[in-house]
Amino acid sequence: MLKRLFSISASRKKTPDFTAIKTDMHSHLIPGIDDGARTMEDSLNLVRKMHALGFTKLITTPHIQSEFFKNTPEIILSGLENLREALAAENIPVQMEAAAEYLLDDGFEEKMNAGNLLSFSDKHILIELSYYNPHPNLKSFIFNLQCEGYKVILAHPERYTYWFKDFSKFEDLKERGVFFQLNTVSLAGFYPDTVKKFAEKFIEKGMIDFIGSDMHNTNYMAALERSLKEKPLARLIASGKLRNGEL
Ligand SMILES: [Fe+2]
Repeated sequence: MLKRLFSISASRKKTPDFTAIKTDMHSHLIPGIDDGARTMEDSLNLVRKMHALGFTKLITTPHIQSEFFKNTPEIILSGLENLREALAAENIPVQMEAAAEYLLDDGFEEKMNAGNLLSFSDKHILIELSYYNPHPNLKSFIFNLQCEGYKVILAHPERYTYWFKDFSKFEDLKERGVFFQLNTVSLAGFYPDTVKKFAEKFIEKGMIDFIGSDMHNTNYMAALERSLKEKPLARLIASGKLRNGEL
């Protein structure tokens, strides 16, 4: 009896992890091609740790931008092959896939017209906006992507501070069928306080569809672990609204 009680209380005290989420869909784990992992050793250490936190599938999303990170599908997919080989050699049992995090900038239209955008799962595509101001063609970019059958996911809405005074800008995107992906680390105070507040507000309003680690390095990893102690994250996971499991 005592033994049984002990085992029940021990299981209740289990450290929270991401087992229920299964799939992370935002990270920078292909070494040396953006501001994420620098070496293969960095990548392997980060992947190992994410697996230990409960993730079994990682869809990594290197930056594709016109100015700073001029990655192409070819660069990303050959990086994916190398990473997969290294994971197999190290016996790290994680399903690794790759797409991209597209910045909606002046060069995006050309990439869209070329017709070889990297997406994942069921034509899901991850986009981000500039942190200074949204692109003037934002709505038409989104409309055109949706017309091509893409399911558009906006990365970390809680980081676009220029819209904090006009929440209707976010509501408008939701009404246009854009999915929102919260950076889990935002809840752990990884960015300024206002970002954390907006992260919590999006959760309260039921506007978050996916969570992502946005994993770049060990600082993100520490924040990801801290986020597991945040009540809003526990509420979000328990809500059953997250769609990571569909990917
Ligand atoms: Fe990212």
